[in-house]
Formats: sequence, structure tokens, C-alpha cells
Amino acid sequence: MTFQTALNAASETVLARLGKALDGRADLPLVHAMRYALQGGKGMRGFLVLESAALFGVKAEVAVSAAAAVEALHAYSLVHDDLPCMDDDDLRRGQPTVHVKWDEATAVLAGDALQTLAFELLTDPALGSGDVRVALVAGLAKASGSEGMVLGQALDIAAETAGRPLTLPEITTLQAGKTGALIRWSAEAGAVIAGADPAPLGRYAAALGLAFQIADDILDVEGDAAKTGKRLRKDAEAGKATFVSLLGLDGAKTRARALVAEAEAALGPYGDRAATLIDAARFVIAREN
Ligand code: IPE
Ligand code: IPE
Ligand code: MG
Ligand code: MG
Ligand code: MG
Repeated sequence: MTFQTALNAASETVLARLGKALDGRADLPLVHAMRYALQGGKGMRGFLVLESAALFGVKAEVAVSAAAAVEALHAYSLVHDDLPCMDDDDLRRGQPTVHVKWDEATAVLAGDALQTLAFELLTDPALGSGDVRVALVAGLAKASGSEGMVLGQALDIAAETAGRPLTLPEITTLQAGKTGALIRWSAEAGAVIAGADPAPLGRYAAALGLAFQIADDILDVEGDAAKTGKRLRKDAEAGKATFVSLLGLDGAKTRARALVAEAEAALGPYGDRAATLIDAARFVIAREN
């Protein structure tokens, strides 16, 4: 099975779980917008949950609610990221953004409800004991909020008007929050569900998350919009602080490759069992979308 086939299969499993969670909800623009926002992504974070669980012999049917949770949280972050007051984007995953297709109020509310849906999914008894579920909830709350993704988004917006370029440590902190925190939670989730030590996966994910956002920043400069399904060449114009703005394209690519090597090395303790997670790290910087 190629990596892309495995990623697609995981994404279908996760989308089916999300579909089931939304079954029977009100026939309202809010709920239609939530379903719409969940479609069409790569499903990388959900994949990391399922793969890290598989590393410890935890089956997909046990871990799937955690995978669905992080994809719901991520979908919310994108709906809000695209709003006019944030990045003001009209295209996402090849489709009009939620505020363009419906309106801003629906986009704000659909994002809000996708966020709470994530935490609802983490209460699923299939994930394990109360202690396991509380650990997942606490970890995702921390990874998403003012010490994680939202912090990174705030630093990202602030950097647009900072009047000076950010330093390398500042950009690293920004990106570790905005993209890294959710990726890290995803890769550690399997260990949390299995009651295993999440430290090696945490080291893997810290490097992977940074490489993932560097690849996103490189795609903004030299990607193909028909493949990414989102508007490109916007970061420089908006004054975004990225590894590309600081290191240049070649410097950013070199850094991304070094981070992938770091991610692979962190998986050493798992030997051959980590082959798919190694493929994931390579995919992250080779991807075209
Ligand atoms: C895009 O994330 C936003 C970032 C945090 C870089 P993805 O590249 O995972 O987007 P989808 O989910 O595949 O659309
Ligand atoms: C967004 O980063 C990260 C989020 C927390 C949603 P970007 O603004 O670079 O993501 P894209 O390029 O719009 O997908
Ligand atoms: Mg943004
Ligand atoms: Mg954006
Ligand atoms: Mg981007």
C-alpha cells in the first residue's frame, strides 16, 4: 500500500466517524456548514492518531474518536483562519470558504461548534478509562488554546504589524503553536490511549510539526493552487512571518529536510514498526497539497 492510499483510507474512517457524530442533528445552515468544513482535507492529524495507536497494537475502532476529534478541531481552526478578520481567504480545499458559501456568522458559529464537537468525541467510552479520556481532553485543550494553536495564530497576526522581521526563535515558537501543537497531540494520542510513554512520539512530532508548517510556507511561494486548493502567494504580501521569509526558499528547504531526519531518528525505539510514521515524515515535505 502506498502512503497516499493509507492516508486516504484513514481519512475515510475518520470522516465516517464524524458523519456518525453529526447524524440526526438539526437541518440548519450551521450543521451543513460543519459537515462541509470537515470534507476534503488530507486528514494528516487523524492519520497520526490512528498510526500512533497502531504502534501499540490499539485498533482503529478504539482510537477513531480521538482521530475524529483532532480533525474537527483542525477544521474549526481553518474556518476561523480564513475569516476576513484573519487571513481573508475565499478558497479552501478547492471550495469556497465557509463564510463565502454561507456568511461570517455561520462560519464563526460552525467553527465554535466544531471545536466543542472535538471535546464531545473525546468523551467516547471506546477510547478507554475515564483517566485516559481526561488526559486526552486536557491535552487537546492545552494544544488548542492560548498556549497552543490559538497562541500561534495570535503571534502570526501580531507579526504582520510588528514593524520588524521575527527572529528564528520567535518564528519557531509561533509555528510550534499554530501548527505544531495539534500535530504533537495527534502523534502522542496513540501512546496516551495505550498507556505507553509518549516521549519518543513527542520528539518525532515536534520536528514533524515544524517541517509541516515549513512545507506549507514553501507551498505558498512555489505551490500550484490547483493542487493545494487554496490561494497561494499571499504570505509575503500579508507580511507573514515564515521560515521562508527569514531563511529564503533554499534555507527553508534545508531546514525542513533536517527536521524530517530528526523526526525519523526519534522513532528509533520502535524499529520497523514505525515504518509508516517515517513515510509520513517524508510525505510532509514532499507533498504538493
Ligand atoms: C493547513 O493544514 C493549515 C496548517 C496548519 C498548515 P493542512 O495542510 O493539514 O490542511 P488540510 O486539512 O489538508 O486541508
Ligand atoms: C493556519 O496557518 C494554521 C491554523 C491554525 C489554521 P496558515 O494560515 O498558514 O494556513 P493556510 O495556509 O491558510 O492553510
Ligand atoms: Mg493563517
Ligand atoms: Mg491561512
Ligand atoms: Mg499557509
